[in-house]
Amino acid sequence: MKMKFIVQNLGVSIFFKVFLIIAIISQTFGSKTDYYRSNKALFIFGDSFLDAGNNNYINTTTFDQANFLPYGETYFNFPTGRFSDGRLISDFIAEYVNIPLVPPFLQPDNNKYYNGVNFASGGAGALVETFQGSVIPFKTQAINFKKVTTWLRHKLGSSDSKTLLSNAVYMFSIGSNDYLSPFLTNSDVLKHYSHTEYVAMVIGNFTSTIKEIHKRGAKKFVILNLPPLGCLPGTRIIQSQGKGSCLEELSSLASIHNQALYEVLLELQKQLRGFKFSLYDFNSDLSHMINHPLKYGFKEGKSACCGSGPFRGEYSCGGKRGEKHFELCDKPNESVFWDSYHLTESAYKQLAAQMWSPTGNSHTIGSYTIRDFFQAM
Ligand SMILES: *[C@@H]1O[C@H](CO)[C@@H](O)[C@H](O)[C@H]1NC(C)=O
Ligand SMILES: *[C@@H]1O[C@H](CO)[C@@H](O)[C@H](O)[C@H]1NC(C)=O
Ligand SMILES: *[C@@H]1O[C@H](CO)[C@@H](O)[C@H](O)[C@H]1NC(C)=O
Repeated sequence: MKMKFIVQNLGVSIFFKVFLIIAIISQTFGSKTDYYRSNKALFIFGDSFLDAGNNNYINTTTFDQANFLPYGETYFNFPTGRFSDGRLISDFIAEYVNIPLVPPFLQPDNNKYYNGVNFASGGAGALVETFQGSVIPFKTQAINFKKVTTWLRHKLGSSDSKTLLSNAVYMFSIGSNDYLSPFLTNSDVLKHYSHTEYVAMVIGNFTSTIKEIHKRGAKKFVILNLPPLGCLPGTRIIQSQGKGSCLEELSSLASIHNQALYEVLLELQKQLRGFKFSLYDFNSDLSHMINHPLKYGFKEGKSACCGSGPFRGEYSCGGKRGEKHFELCDKPNESVFWDSYHLTESAYKQLAAQMWSPTGNSHTIGSYTIRDFFQAM
């Protein structure tokens, strides 16, 4: 009687141990299969053109957040934190590549990084001073990326994590806020630096962070240049005396930046081992869209869908930024601009399609397109 009990007990315990071992093996294996299954990763850095909700989780203000309606109304049916009525350029790229929409680094349930992570933060700039205290600066985004590379090394081992990181695509939209913030905060920084000096400082900080990311194993860099910053609904109203023309000083800063950006990328390609870039000409494509909205199926190229005042340029969309009153258009897909500074899903979708078009197109500057990067190379 006693003997039988012991034998049975032993049987259970062996069964249980085998079960446990199988469970452990399949878990370790499970994560590896996840990785091998798709083998495509997109890491995203930058500002509100690419933030998919990181600012929902930081101590900031509603000026740097979009986690309230009508943000998100078109596609998600709830506000995800994206500064649009729906998806962003990076979301459409993820769809082209057939990976899940890349989740924000700070999203609490985001704990698998095999297909990439989104580090972008609305309001962020290359300079730490830009909207300091309300955003995750570009440098900090690179530190967060370093944490993810450590996690990947633990999970996959050194060789496989290296392969993942060097095959992955890295997308950037950074710099706009470095130029917008002096105009929006009445800072006098542009009185202390010439335009070329200020651009050199922004580019210098951009470059040192890019080098950090490269040092961690990144090779394929996709960069959006700066849009025509003086022609956003929110910047048209700054000095126009009611005319609503573009704020030339801001658009000119963006152009100087974009020229310097191209030059520095060519330089990095010479300096850094394995570094490749694809520079998406966001500036030229968006300018064309603003000036010829009908060609893209839009009715409105200059005014925002959501906001108040002339061009709906006052940043009041959602009524949570101090000003409760705001207007909202019925059909966001008829406008290029969603709010004072950001585009509609419909505009982002068309820009993503332009970005995705094959090599030799007029939308990308440099030898590669993002599509080349995702195909084996
Ligand atoms: C968030 O920021 C506000 C204002 O800067 C500050 O008073 C508050 O203590 C901060 N909260 C946390 C949790 O850091
Ligand atoms: C980076 O920006 C800081 C200001 O935040 C500036 O003092 C510094 O010179 C810049 N670094 C480079 C390499 O340009
Ligand atoms: C634009 O949006 C409206 C509703 O907001 C929808 O009925 C219409 O089909 C959309 N048009 C296109 C071209 O997607």
